[in-house]
Amino acid sequence: MLLAVTGASGKTGWRVVQEALRRGHQVRAIVRPGSSLPEGLNGAEVVRLQLGNRTALTEALKGCGGLVIATGARPSVDLSGPLQVDAFGVQRQIEACRAAGVQRVVLVSSLCAGLWRHPLNLFGLILVWKRLGEQWLEQSGLAFTVVRPGGLKEQENDLHLQRLQFSGPDQQRDGSIPRRLVAQVCLDALETPASVGRIVEITSRAVPEAPMGKGESAAPVTLEAWLA
Ligand SMILES: NC(=O)c1ccc[n+]([C@@H]2O[C@H](COP(=O)([O-])OP(=O)(O)OC[C@H]3O[C@@H](n4cnc5c(N)ncnc54)[C@H](OP(=O)(O)O)[C@@H]3O)[C@@H](O)[C@H]2O)c1
Repeated sequence: MLLAVTGASGKTGWRVVQEALRRGHQVRAIVRPGSSLPEGLNGAEVVRLQLGNRTALTEALKGCGGLVIATGARPSVDLSGPLQVDAFGVQRQIEACRAAGVQRVVLVSSLCAGLWRHPLNLFGLILVWKRLGEQWLEQSGLAFTVVRPGGLKEQENDLHLQRLQFSGPDQQRDGSIPRRLVAQVCLDALETPASVGRIVEITSRAVPEAPMGKGESAAPVTLEAWLA
């Protein structure tokens, strides 16, 4: 599939691109005109545009079988960032998907989206605007999956020990997860029809390595198994 990824210059976005390429997809990595390009985008087609440029965004999405939205407001003194990016930015991407005929969308949102009383809201009510973006996607008629990760980690040295914890909406409030696993779950969602129309919260935690042959460690939980 030709897959579009927005926010592809971000730390989750480039990993989504890399995972998609590894799984044999072609990738259109959508970034801002001034975005720095991480090495992880090697092998992807890079398209530079402003999300507010409806014509350019629609053109970039044409021919794509799906979109992963990994945009998110960067920390800034400008507290309107979350409203602009996490709400209106998502709305613009939804509209462009409709115009371009892209049906399938995976949105990287956040645990606690929709909560008013949360310290993260000190950054421009980010959790409130994230929920609005989610709601617009839910109401869009598009085949969506919302992935809500916990605190994002760069660490990749113990991925083999990480066990994912999935839940439905508003079930988890704490916890963290490596961005690499979030990227993998986004790709899993695209491959799992049962994830359409679902909000999936994900965190992970390291489990001790099982002694050889004892099989003590729990089998990894996959999105498909959790949804079954
Ligand atoms: N940090 C956490 O612990 C955490 C926890 C849960 C959920 N999340 C959410 O998970 C997602 C990924 O987070 P991350 O930390 O991996 O992302 P990140 O590294 O901060 O990257 C953000 C991406 O969004 C793009 N972006 C920012 N403002 C934009 C705008 N106005 N127009 C278009 N693109 C814009 C950035 O482009 P540039 O490279 O050009 O700036 C970048 O590609 C975000 O939605 C974030 O809110 C984060």
